[in-house]
Parts: sequence; structure tokens; C-alpha cells
Amino acid sequence: MRIKIKCASLTQVKADLIVVNFFKGVKKPEGAAAVVDKLLKGQIVKLINDGEIEGSLGEVTIIHTGGGKFAVVGLGEKDKFGLDQVRVAGAAAIKEAKRIKAKSVATIVHGSDVGKLDLEAVAQAVVEGSVLGGYEFKGEKSESPKSEIRVNELIIIEKDNKKISAIKKGAKLGQIVAEAENRAKDLVNGPSNKITPTYLANYARQMSKEVGLKCRILDPKAEGMEAMWAVAKGSKEPAKVVVLGNQKRGTIALIGKGVTFDAGGISLKPSNKLWEMKTDMAGAAAVIETMRAAVELGIAKDVFAVIPLTENMPDGGALKPGDVVSSLSGLTTEVISTDAEGRMILADAITYAKEQGAETIVDCATLTGGCLSALGDVATGLMGNDQELIDKIKRAAEKSGEKVWQLPLYEEYKDYLKCSVADQKNCTEGRGASPSTGATFLHKFVGDTSWAHLDIAGTAYLSKGRGYLAEGATGVPVRTLIEFLNV
Ligand code: BES
Ligand code: ZN
Ligand code: ZN
Repeated sequence: MRIKIKCASLTQVKADLIVVNFFKGVKKPEGAAAVVDKLLKGQIVKLINDGEIEGSLGEVTIIHTGGGKFAVVGLGEKDKFGLDQVRVAGAAAIKEAKRIKAKSVATIVHGSDVGKLDLEAVAQAVVEGSVLGGYEFKGEKSESPKSEIRVNELIIIEKDNKKISAIKKGAKLGQIVAEAENRAKDLVNGPSNKITPTYLANYARQMSKEVGLKCRILDPKAEGMEAMWAVAKGSKEPAKVVVLGNQKRGTIALIGKGVTFDAGGISLKPSNKLWEMKTDMAGAAAVIETMRAAVELGIAKDVFAVIPLTENMPDGGALKPGDVVSSLSGLTTEVISTDAEGRMILADAITYAKEQGAETIVDCATLTGGCLSALGDVATGLMGNDQELIDKIKRAAEKSGEKVWQLPLYEEYKDYLKCSVADQKNCTEGRGASPSTGATFLHKFVGDTSWAHLDIAGTAYLSKGRGYLAEGATGVPVRTLIEFLNV
């Protein structure tokens, strides 16, 4: 989607659809809607009085005139209005534009006059909502779907010249962020017979070439990543570790779990919804696309990424419950369940990142079904050993609209992993608190390095779309990670 910022009045703009807005509970159209109402000879007022326009969040009413089409999009209640409501409104308008085959859409920056919100952030949110709301996974259908119709131009209109530069800045950021997120979604929605470790490694290499980022692809076995290798050896697909960016002392390392299919290994998962385990590389996809965005935004110098990629399959040569394996750090693990594989591959990625000089580590991983049970598909579980870093991520998440909820890392959870034959077990059977237990396992490898862990098992994939997110992959936590790096 091309995005243009124009200093003009709505009535001067040429577009297939012109979008204005309306708050719930307000009696009369305000601002741009009032201008359009005048142009439409009071049609908006009439629809409000008839109760056809209520202004509830995401409601879209199309009004035709001889001269063109207008959309009145509801913003919900004024006192509940914030950046995420802007995204929802932006997405609603774009979806409706697609439906009526409007190729160019002109919009005002919703709520830029509400006052409490920062104009640049609102402009960013309008673009994010529009680009995210327009997303559809293409897939491999032989007949091209009707949804080939796309909005290819979004024109943001502002009549006050003084506001243009802030809007331009916000819009650019919003576009980079949302496009990164949509690409991450494509990777997560893709089937595991296509999105293999090799595919993702090549994808990361190609991306790096395009944007000018350093990319290395490592063989986990040759690197001594024994914990990761233990997981990978049951699969025919060769495992890879992708390292993006410059490893330097003092930098931030992003780590993303990249299990391209998690069958559970010998601790085989039940077949119900097993296909969803193609999404077990959502952390990897998010980190790859965050790195691309970091380059595009000029903030890549202080960050590098370590992305362990493998399948987790049952096989004659696979890891077995009860096996004891070493790791890059030398710490040993007794494998209670081969389905707790994410923490094994992350353990080696964490050690590698530390060896390469990382002083802050942020990992994201579809780590535990327990996180989905606890927080549903609404919030990501956030854990770590550095409250300041955790708070920083909370603030970034709040601004990005991706909800996070901190879960505890109590000392007692260490008892859950106590082991008589190795340094730790990889999980417990039936003691609960699996998100915290998983993070406790990782903590042992992290040590004192400043660290935050995002468990995205619930939030990476939606079985039902909502707001600006379609059913399927969400791209979480791309927006939070970029916001975190960008402050
Ligand atoms: N990839 C799964 C976690 C998962 C579950 C992600 C549902 C997305 C949706 C992970 O590897 C796993 O299997 N975790 C186990 C851990 C257990 C054995 C301690 C789980 O959550 O059951
Ligand atoms: Zn698993
Ligand atoms: Zn997994």
C-alpha cells in the first residue's frame, strides 16, 4: 500500500473512498465529519438521528453521492479512545474499502484533535491499522481469490501544515512496522512443508542481503549446541541457527524460537489441532522481521539476533524421555518430555548470545500451552530477571497495543526442575505453572544477564480474527519489539 500525506482539505481530495469518523454518544458530527456532512447536505446528521450511525468502534457506514463515496467510521466512546482504537478504526475502514473495491482511500488522522494523544503516534496507529487490516494470507489456491482487490493507496489528509511533519514521521514508522508484521504473519501462516528451517534460513539471508545486514548460518552440531542438536536429530530437515546483525559486546540480543513443526517428538502430541504446530516458529518469524525493520529504521546497530531453527519429530533416531543431554554451556538436562523442546533450543541460543557479548537478552517463543490456558489468545506472558527491562517491555507493549502480562519467577519453581541425574529436568509432570517453569529452565542458562522472556503460545495465532487482526497468525510481538528497540 502506497501511503501519501497531503496538506489539503477533505473536500479537495480525489479518492475512491473518503473516510471521516464519529464518536459514540456524540449528537452532531464534528471536525472533518461536519465538513463532509455539509457537503452531503446533512445526510450524516440524518443517519445519526435515524440511529443508523451509532459511532460504536469499528462501525462503518458508507454514503454515496454523485461525486464519490464517503465512509463514516465509528471510534467508540471518547473516554475509552486510545491508539488501539485508532488501529481498529483504520482497519475497519480499509476492510470496507476492499469490500466496495475502492482502490484509493483518503482518511483523516482519527482523533488527532482529541488532544491527549501524541499526533505522531496516532498517525502511526492509523497506518498500522490500515496496513494490518488489509492483510490476507495468500496461500496456494490455484484460483486467485476475489480478495485480489487491494487498496493500493492510502492518502492521509491534514489541513494544518504545522502537523504534516509529525504525521509523516508517524506514518513512515507505522508502515515499516505493519509491513514487517504482515510478512511475519505470512511465514507463520505458511505450511511446515514449505517453511522449513532451510527455508527460513534462506529467507533471513535474502532479507539481510536486501537491507544490508550481516547474516551467518550455523550448524548447531558443529557449534556444540548439544541441547538443540538433541531436539533436531529426530528430524530429516537439517537444523540451522541464524545469526543476524553485528555481535558486539554490550548489545541487545533478540532470540526467537523457530520450531517449524512441533510434533512433540517421542512425547508425541495428540492429533487434535496438531496442524497448528506449524506456528511454533512464530518467535523466529517475529525476530527476523524485527531485524529487518530495525535496519529500515536505522536502529540496528545495537542489536543482533540468534534464531534456532529445527523441527521436533518422532523418529528412530529421536531424543527420548529420560535421556540426559549436555548443552553449549555445559549444563546438563534430563529430558522428561521431548515436547518441552523450545526451552532446549533456546538454552543454546541464549548461551551463544552471551558468548557473543549480549548484555541484554529478549527472547520470544511459543513455549507453553499453559500460557494459552492462563491468558488465552489475548495477552503474552512476560517473565524475566530484570524488572527495569520488563517494565520497558511493558511500556512498549502498551504503546503497540500488544497486551503483555507479567507472570512470576518464584524461587520455588526451581524445585520443580530439581533432578538427581542432571543439572535440571526440562519440565515437570503435572505440577502446573508451566510458563513460569519453562522460564525458570531458561533462567539457569541466562544467569545474571539482563533478560526478558515473552511466551507467545497464546497470542501468536488466533482461531478467530478480531479488530485489525485476521484469523491466523498475528505477527506478535513484532510491534512491541520494534517499539522497545526504537525508544
Ligand atoms: N510448542 C509447544 C507450546 C504450544 C502449545 C504453543 C500450544 C502453541 C500452542 C511447546 O513446545 C510444548 O509442547 N510445550 C509443552 C511443555 C510441557 C511438556 C512442559 C506444553 O505446553 O504442553
Ligand atoms: Zn513441544
Ligand atoms: Zn514447541
